[in-house]
Amino acid sequence: MKSLIVYYSHSGSTEKLSKELQTLLNADVLKLQPDPDLGNPSFLNYIKGGWHVLRKHLPKLTNKQVNIDDYDLIAIGTPVWFGSFTPAIRSFLKDNPIKNKKLVLFANHRGGLGNTFSALEKAIGIDKNQNQIISEFALNHKYSADEQSRFVQEWFTEIMNYLER
Ligand SMILES: Cc1cc2nc3c(=O)[nH]c(=O)nc-3n(C[C@H](O)[C@H](O)[C@H](O)COP(=O)(O)O)c2cc1C
Repeated sequence: MKSLIVYYSHSGSTEKLSKELQTLLNADVLKLQPDPDLGNPSFLNYIKGGWHVLRKHLPKLTNKQVNIDDYDLIAIGTPVWFGSFTPAIRSFLKDNPIKNKKLVLFANHRGGLGNTFSALEKAIGIDKNQNQIISEFALNHKYSADEQSRFVQEWFTEIMNYLER
């Protein structure tokens, strides 16, 4: 099964998780690079990021293109911004309609997951486009590093159990 991980990360936690998942799945990886990206952490940029989520903003992406038809499984990783997924992911989904794929959705947050997965499912079109969700995983960074590692290991076991069925 050929796998692709698509992710956006502003401060590195989704990138870290994507790299761990890459090792597990032996996947290709696509890092989304919006231009302009959200600047350094500040209250103003936090509000700006949230505003872009609420406005369903579609930033230009400057990363390489992939042909998602080449893949059976697509994992999509995002930080949670204002209780939802990030604008770079929305741009990717607009440019790359996903049909007939197995999906893994994952998110990093700090205690307020909100509607991230339901909004992402809606943007992807799960039933409408014959996609199948294998797993959804949200990592809350309010937990200790040890606890986070345990959650990630449990998640990986869940994915492997599915794939080995
Ligand atoms: C603009 C912005 C909005 C955010 N909104 C939320 C939120 O609604 N809920 C939450 O739990 N964390 C929120 N966060 C925190 C991030 O989700 C969290 O730090 C995440 O781990 C960042 O992932 P990254 O390191 O891959 O960028 C927000 C961060 C930013 C920059």
